[in-house]
Amino acid sequence: MHLYALAAILLSTLCLTSAYALSPEDEFTAAGCPDTTSPYASHSDQLAAWEDFTSMLYNEKRITEAFDKYVAAGYINHSPLVPGNGANTTIAELSQIVPNVNSDLQRAYVGWDRNGTAFGTAHTKVTGGGAIGIPDSALVDIIRMVGTCLVEHWDVEQSTEGSHPNPIAFFF
Ligand SMILES: *[C@@H]1O[C@H](CO)[C@@H](O)[C@H](O)[C@H]1NC(C)=O
Ligand SMILES: *[C@@H]1O[C@H](CO)[C@@H](O)[C@H](O)[C@H]1NC(C)=O
Repeated sequence: MHLYALAAILLSTLCLTSAYALSPEDEFTAAGCPDTTSPYASHSDQLAAWEDFTSMLYNEKRITEAFDKYVAAGYINHSPLVPGNGANTTIAELSQIVPNVNSDLQRAYVGWDRNGTAFGTAHTKVTGGGAIGIPDSALVDIIRMVGTCLVEHWDVEQSTEGSHPNPIAFFF
């Protein structure tokens, strides 16, 4: 009796563990990563992918191309501006915003946690979006990567409008 209960607990723990700790290939496939990306990549390839993606998105404003090349169809997005997950939902949202603001990319880099998970970070100066209700702001995007595929996004945005005691507030 006890042994069966123990076995059941062990089995359900194993199932739970495998569901939450997918291998890079399994998450890559489950998330619908584009075939222009790969589930395993060197640090320099991940940095090159992140620099290319952020430049296409914020400097060149080739939003759909940037997403088609690097972003998983099942992109998980924690941005408060989107109504749900998915690359297409984010493309639709960004297409309303990015072409209508100046997005001045200040820096883009990739960092790795102790488990080797890569996070691309971009620090962007956003101005000129008053007409669409976007205040001048400092934007930080953080995107989790599986190899060179972008799978999950968080951001923080702070208005830079008004006066500040620090002459180097936000930028430079
Ligand atoms: C996303 O949009 C493209 C182009 O309209 C379409 O081909 C694709 O099926 C859509 N993907 C999803 C997951 O809805
Ligand atoms: C790193 O891996 C350990 C052991 O598998 C896990 O407990 C931990 O949650 C992981 N940390 C992150 C940040 O993913």
